[in-house]
Amino acid sequence: GPDPVARIEALIRDVPDWPKPGVVFKDITPLLADAEGFRLAVDQITALAPTPIDIVVGMEARGFLFAAPVALSLGAGFVPVRKPGKLPSASIEESFALEYGHATLAMHTDALWPGARVLVVDDILATGGTVGATASLIKRQGAELVHVAVLMELGFLNGREALAQTGIDAVSAVV
Ligand code: HPA
Repeated sequence: GPDPVARIEALIRDVPDWPKPGVVFKDITPLLADAEGFRLAVDQITALAPTPIDIVVGMEARGFLFAAPVALSLGAGFVPVRKPGKLPSASIEESFALEYGHATLAMHTDALWPGARVLVVDDILATGGTVGATASLIKRQGAELVHVAVLMELGFLNGREALAQTGIDAVSAVV
């Protein structure tokens, strides 16, 4: 049908002054609730991925919503990255800086293997902190981060440039 990217953009809602004054929050819930839009979003993210991919890594919580269906679409496995204290088996953790304070992400130590070809999928690329920490978790296991594919990129937060400074330059966004 007509421009899938325009259709996707039309289903992402701007919420002014949320979660705090001056922020315009990109709300993906209208996109998820639209059967055609959700399908288009998953297909467009899938189309950004090089092949072959062994594993799609997705980050809690909104990343899961896109990473899992993209994994199915690619015929790849899915591995979750979670907040600390959620994964039941042996895990590694990586901390990263936020605007105020820090956050930590975790992954099971048996989730990946040396040489595994990994795609990271998330809903949004903002400052790049979450993707950067996830990339470290992947590389610490000897796996190969081959691409980062996101639905949305907030260009004004310069996440792409921050990631490039850590050697991550295979990044693409649908919108
Ligand atoms: N939407 C969702 N997540 C975000 C945003 C946003 O606008 N900015 C930073 N993280």
